[in-house]
Amino acid sequence: MPVRPLRRIGISSGERLHDQVDAALFHSPYGATLTNEIEDEHPELIVRDGENVLAAFARGGTAHLVYGFENERAFADRFPAMFEKLLPKARRAIAPDDLRFRLAYAPARPLVEPVLKRLWFSPVRDWLGFTLERGAKLPAASPRGATFRDATAADIDELLRLDRGAFPDTPLTREGMLAALREGEAIMATVGKHAAAFCTFSMTSPLDGYIHVVAVDDAQRGRGIGTALTVRACKRQFAAGARRIELTTDDSNGAAIRMYLSLGFRQMSAGRDYTRPAHPKAIARLKRQSQGTLIRFGGWR
Ligand SMILES: CC(C)(COP(=O)(O)OP(=O)(O)OC[C@H]1O[C@@H](n2cnc3c(N)ncnc32)[C@H](O)[C@@H]1OP(=O)(O)O)[C@@H](O)C(=O)NCCC(=O)NCCS
Repeated sequence: MPVRPLRRIGISSGERLHDQVDAALFHSPYGATLTNEIEDEHPELIVRDGENVLAAFARGGTAHLVYGFENERAFADRFPAMFEKLLPKARRAIAPDDLRFRLAYAPARPLVEPVLKRLWFSPVRDWLGFTLERGAKLPAASPRGATFRDATAADIDELLRLDRGAFPDTPLTREGMLAALREGEAIMATVGKHAAAFCTFSMTSPLDGYIHVVAVDDAQRGRGIGTALTVRACKRQFAAGARRIELTTDDSNGAAIRMYLSLGFRQMSAGRDYTRPAHPKAIARLKRQSQGTLIRFGGWR
C-alpha cells in the first residue's frame, strides 16, 4: 500500500469538531452540521486518543459514527478501544437500536473491515455518492396529473407506506420518519387523491444540501414524478444557499442512478455502510450464533 503523508489534526482553540475530523487522513464523510451538532448537544459522545477522534450522532434510532484517524493503521490500532469507550455513553445518551459506520474510502477496506467485523459490525449496503453543483441546468419537470406540496407530520402514515413500498428491506421506523421531517424538509406528490411519492432532504452544512430519500409508488413510476421531486428538492436547496447537493444510492439501483445522471449529478464517491446492534443481548446472540458455526464446522469458514 502506498505511504501517504500524514496530516496533523491537532486541536487548536476555535477549531470545531468537523474541522478536526475533516483534517484527518482517514475520516467519516458527514457534513459540518451533523458533526458539529455532537459538540453542541452531546460533547460527552466525543472520544479522543492522541490525534484520533471518534463520536456519534443519532438519527432515527441509529447512532452514526463520526471518525477522524491519522491513517488507516491508526484506525486499526485505536478504534476498538475508543469504540468500547464510546458505546456505553452512546447507549445512555441516545439509546440507539443500532450503530452505523460509513466507509467512504474504498482502498481502506482490507484493513478496516476485519476490525469492524471483530466488533460485530456487518456490511449492510454498498453505495455510490453523487454530487450536483450549483449552476446545473435543471428541467422544469411537471408531470401531468401530479401535484406537489410540502409534507408534514400529519402525512406520516402515507409517507411510511410509500417508504415501505420503495425500500421493503430497510423501511424507516415511525421515529425515523418523524426525525427526518423534524430535521429537514419533505415534498410530497399526489395523483388524484392518493399520495404517490415523496422526497426528503436537508442541509448538512450552510453550503451543502443532501437528498435523503426519493420514493415513488410502484404504480406511478416511469412518468417523471421521481425527476420532478428531485428537481424541486434541488432548487429549494440551491435557493437556500447550497453550493452543491449530494446523495447516495445503492450501487445496484440502476433506475435511481440513471435518473440522477440524467439530471446532471456526477458520481464522486463510493463506499460501504456497516451496521451493528447496540443492545448487549443482540450482541450476545450474535456471539452464540458464531460459536454455533464454529462448533458445527470445526473452525471459521
Ligand atoms: C428511482 C425512482 C425514484 C425513479 O422514480 P420515477 O418517477 O420512476 O422516475 P422518472 O419517471 O422521473 O424517471 C427518470 C429517469 O430515471 C430512469 N429510470 C426510471 N425508472 C427506471 C427503470 N425502471 N429502469 C431504468 N431506468 C429508469 C430513466 O433514465 C428515467 O428517464 P427516462 O424516462 O427519460 O428514460 C423510483 O424508481 C423509486 O421510487 N424506486 C425505489 C426507491 C429508490 O430506489 N429511490 C432512489 C434512491 S433514494
